[in-house]
Amino acid sequence: MDWEKLVAAAWQAREAAYAPYSNFAVGAALLAKDGRIFMGCNVENISYGLTNCAERVAIGAAVAAGAREFLAVAVVADTGVPISPCGACRQVLAEFGTPRVMLANRNEQLEFSLEDLLPRASSGILDRPE
Ligand code: THU
Repeated sequence: MDWEKLVAAAWQAREAAYAPYSNFAVGAALLAKDGRIFMGCNVENISYGLTNCAERVAIGAAVAAGAREFLAVAVVADTGVPISPCGACRQVLAEFGTPRVMLANRNEQLEFSLEDLLPRASSGILDRPE
């Protein structure tokens, strides 16, 4: 796993963040099973609840490009401690697998499994009958 490359892509994605209301820019980079990397940034709206987080923007870009299986995601922001994805993004990441998660700020990277961040998604929420 080339975390350095994925984290760098997330910082690059963050450059495009549209966050005039919170002034809090977030970047995400998703590694697909086929090796492609998809990037996302947060996209805010004057109707605040319509804001899309960086993670879900990356998922949308990937799915629109035909990728549905992911190995990892990196999420970055200029925070005091590494950023932590919201509950909605955890579940959207779980929908497509995404077993490994790196959360980073400028000087620290913390690796988690998605199972750590959203326990029992695969055995509970996503365990649909055939
Ligand atoms: N945000 C993300 O894009 N990802 C996260 O993991 C946490 C929060 C965005 C949403 C909003 O634009 C801003 O950060 C403040 O919450």
